Amino acid sequence: MPQRLIIDTDPGIDDALAILLTLASSELQLEGLSIVHGNCSMQQGARNARAVLELAGASHIPVFNGCEFPLVQPSLLAPETHGNTGLGYAELPDPVMPVDPRHAVDFLIETVLASPGEITIAAIGPLTNVALAIRKEPRFAPAVKDLFIMGGAVRYDGNTTPLAEFNTYVDPHAAHIVFHSGIPIMLVPLDVTYQCILTPEDVTRLQASPTGIPKFIADSTRFYMEFHDEYQQIAGCVINDPLALALIYRPEICDYEEIFVDVEISGGVAMGKTFGDFYKMTKRSPNMRVALQVRPRDFMELFLERIESLCQAQATAGGSG
Ligand code: RIB
Ligand code: CA
Repeated sequence: MPQRLIIDTDPGIDDALAILLTLASSELQLEGLSIVHGNCSMQQGARNARAVLELAGASHIPVFNGCEFPLVQPSLLAPETHGNTGLGYAELPDPVMPVDPRHAVDFLIETVLASPGEITIAAIGPLTNVALAIRKEPRFAPAVKDLFIMGGAVRYDGNTTPLAEFNTYVDPHAAHIVFHSGIPIMLVPLDVTYQCILTPEDVTRLQASPTGIPKFIADSTRFYMEFHDEYQQIAGCVINDPLALALIYRPEICDYEEIFVDVEISGGVAMGKTFGDFYKMTKRSPNMRVALQVRPRDFMELFLERIESLCQAQATAGGSG
């Protein structure tokens, strides 16, 4: 049986790659996309999500507008990383499919409560929607099967401040609510995602037919690679979000530790920093599993194989996106 899944996302380039990987993974059954502010505005993200779904012939997947701003912090978007549209240099047609009229927080609550213990959530953007679902409906957290979070940096530098990763920095208060919710959490931090680099050669491998999905991947990641080269001298681009999705059905790609992890919310230089209590100094019980080691080429090979099959299926179906 495929794992029933909701992706809470700020699409964004690596989010779009995670959505495509999900659509290429028969192990997963995507119930819907709940959109949150982050890499781009929530409204732009909702447009991007629908455009990517239509590109992949998956317009039957519902998309829900979510929170446009963090709980407390001022808005922070990432045009320097994902471009003004959130999808780099990619140009997708305006989507035809509408957003679902329900709010993303209500979709999360209703779907989880309708099937207690069955729904996995992959949160690959700031955690504002998930935090509000926890606060709005006390029955939500106990009913979530598990929550895969792409976010944080535990034994690794930040990518937004020297200490903090983007998703937990943009909305640290939401992360704090989620981290202390009791939901079974798998944290997928920069410690492992920064080992997963999509190279120009990988993108070339996907260009069997330079239209549709392959062209989208080439155009979106070209912007992302230019950012990584300029800011961090990386030859390629870090694909954070797809790793979080892959670990749902291929956990052996990483090694994990059960530890107590918290996030700094008192402000100051460490705002949004996630830290792990490896030596049990706080006497707090572990609140999550944390992926701390990864076999990068195992993941990249899985990702490329699945995307290749999705592109071939699109070419066979005659769709060019
Ligand atoms: O820090 C990387 C994370 O922040 C990724 O999810 C990226 O898409 C952004 O949301
Ligand atoms: Ca993201």
